[in-house]
Amino acid sequence: MENKYQLPTYHKFPLVINKGKGAYVFDEKGDKYLDFYGGHAVALIGHCHPKVVKAVTKQLNKLIFYSNVVYNDQRAQVAKALVNLAPNAFSSVFFCNSGTEANETALKLAKKYTGKDEVISFEGSFHGRTVGALSVTGSDKYKKNVGNLLSSVKFAKLGDIKSVEKIITPNTAAIIVEAIQSIAGVNVADPTFYKELKKLAKTNGTVLIYDEVQTGLGRCGKMFFGELVGCMPDMITMAKGIAGGLPAGAVLVSEKIAKSVENGDQGCTFGGGPVVCSAILATLDVIKKEKLWEKAEKYGNKLKDKISQFPRVLGICGEGLLLGIKLEVPAKNIQAKLLAKYVITGTSDNPNVLRIMPPLTITGKEVSIFLNELNQALKD
Ligand SMILES: Cc1ncc(COP(=O)(O)O)c(C=O)c1O
Repeated sequence: MENKYQLPTYHKFPLVINKGKGAYVFDEKGDKYLDFYGGHAVALIGHCHPKVVKAVTKQLNKLIFYSNVVYNDQRAQVAKALVNLAPNAFSSVFFCNSGTEANETALKLAKKYTGKDEVISFEGSFHGRTVGALSVTGSDKYKKNVGNLLSSVKFAKLGDIKSVEKIITPNTAAIIVEAIQSIAGVNVADPTFYKELKKLAKTNGTVLIYDEVQTGLGRCGKMFFGELVGCMPDMITMAKGIAGGLPAGAVLVSEKIAKSVENGDQGCTFGGGPVVCSAILATLDVIKKEKLWEKAEKYGNKLKDKISQFPRVLGICGEGLLLGIKLEVPAKNIQAKLLAKYVITGTSDNPNVLRIMPPLTITGKEVSIFLNELNQALKD
């Protein structure tokens, strides 16, 4: 029915999923799948986390929605919780519904703050599907048949500071960087690159934006990517698992930029709605109480260590529980073999990179199941 009535914009797994619990999802026959794809990195704290279900159910019975023209207890609490999570320089947050919108917002705020127009992004990056976010996306694959995009965007090479130096001008408003380029095949630069980027941005009066839609809130082994590389940006965009599976996005904004923002500069009807905010609050609470970034680091290191010794593995890259496994064989073949063994994984724009982004709540047992199945799939 979906194939008949939904626009054919997605390549789908041959699966009907109608239930989820923790790191597992279930199909209509009741078969259980270990989810190392996480519904595209959304199941950050697993599927249907009981604390999220409880908070959302309570809020659904109280107030489903009222927009940002009124105050609301859930929104107030979650804004404070997010700002408190971030390093000191961040003072404010903007709520929206998706990663794309978070990036659009950050770009608009950077242009307003600097009074400049140009943006630098990176080849291979993915920032979303709306015109602004697509304009800064560094892969032509996503830009087919859309005509003119924003002309004021230039692309540099991730990890190559000289390529940024060559294109930065006095009119560069923002540098936007997908902290770890996930869909491109899990590319990450050396920490010194991000530090040099920050220095370059500062010298040129340019705003630095980290797109942490995938890496944020513990996935990379730290709460934020900036902690990993020892260098914070001026704005951080987030989405994916921030609301335990409900649609939400957010932009963390540093105090200096927040001071330039005025009434009417940005808006979003559904952003920061009470139900979604109750879900974000519960999600942040789980991440903090269970110190999930530590689990991401521990299991990420274990996976890297073991997988690098498996046959047909050329290398493994990424941080925490956002990993790309470079194979001698097409990743889609291994993905299909794993699916037949009830394990869901992802591919990427690099045909040889198998991507994994499981919930940060996974257990040692689930990690072992995955390792056994992957090893077997690679041997066969
Ligand atoms: C790094 C990154 N930025 C932005 C987006 C866009 O997010 P959304 O699909 O929620 O608009 C994605 C989505 O996959 C992403 O991975």
